[in-house]
Amino acid sequence: MIKTIELSKTYKGRVYALKSLNLEIEKGEIFGFLGPNGAGKSTTIKLILDIIRPTSGKALLFDIDVSNPESRKKVGYLPENPSFYDYLTAEELLWFAGRVYNMDESGIKKRTGELLELLDLTKAKSTPIRKYSKGMVQRAGLAHALINDPDLLILDEPTSGLDPVGRRKVADLLLDLKKQGKTIFFSSHILHDVETICDRAGIIVEGELRFSGKLSTVLHQSFQDFEVVVQNISDEILNEIKDKNIDCHKEGDTARLRIKEDDLWEVIEFIRSKNLSLFAIEPKRKTLEGLFLELINKPPLTHPSAGSILQIEP
Ligand SMILES: Nc1ncnc2c1ncn2[C@@H]1O[C@H](COP(=O)(O)OP(=O)(O)OP(=O)(O)O)[C@@H](O)[C@H]1O
Ligand SMILES: [Mg+2]
Repeated sequence: MIKTIELSKTYKGRVYALKSLNLEIEKGEIFGFLGPNGAGKSTTIKLILDIIRPTSGKALLFDIDVSNPESRKKVGYLPENPSFYDYLTAEELLWFAGRVYNMDESGIKKRTGELLELLDLTKAKSTPIRKYSKGMVQRAGLAHALINDPDLLILDEPTSGLDPVGRRKVADLLLDLKKQGKTIFFSSHILHDVETICDRAGIIVEGELRFSGKLSTVLHQSFQDFEVVVQNISDEILNEIKDKNIDCHKEGDTARLRIKEDDLWEVIEFIRSKNLSLFAIEPKRKTLEGLFLELINKPPLTHPSAGSILQIEP
């Protein structure tokens, strides 16, 4: 659905906003595009929509070069900070968008009603956008992106500016669109959103893709060990545990023990024999936040000591 080949962009006076990006997004998947501020996410999105032109390389949508407007017929786009003609109401905005896509009057009316309802804008449909809150503008932007029932959605930070309930609703909406067979490419800073809804993700840092792959694989395979939380522990028993070469930290009368899977049952038996209260046993896995910070802090790939891009596929 989306393919980029050695896609690069340099803005005047800056070295590489995007460097040789090779990315392929398959039909029906939700792909999360992560990266810190200034990493090149919006640059990538603008390049694949032909809003800006690459310095080198190319991008394809539906196997059509993006320089051909045909490539965008079945695409819905939400820009980073949507700014619409703010004297329009949401209803008028959607009418305008529908006309741009050459939809007929009854089609626009039907779709507008559905989208206003879906994005909780029915009550505000006759209010001009300048009176909307940030979250309402964002939701109007999502409705705008969906007017033509696109097969491919490209969303630049769709959950930005939304409160937790709004974010959950957008996440549910994206999952629902996936069920309908749509393909979604979105950028985000909100790691939790990416972790909960994406099939695959990419992490870009300083214009370079540092990770691309299935999140479930990387996060679950990196299972490390268990944290066992014990209460009512005395210093004497703690020392006995330390003698077993177990890493532990005590705060007040609560201790956190880091235990390898093979030693887990033995430690639980020990806790029981001492009548301690077992508060929690938690498997410790690498989190997306951990992976994200690790990749941001790595030297760039052009650095002689850097490794290759972390590719994790099924
Ligand atoms: N029009 C422009 N002219 C010059 N430099 C630009 C322009 N647009 C972006 N840049 C630079 O390109 C780099 C990538 O910017 P981009 O907007 O793609 O980042 P981003 O990952 O979307 O960041 P954010 O999370 O803050 O939205 C930044 O260093 C930015 O300053
Ligand atoms: Mg951006």
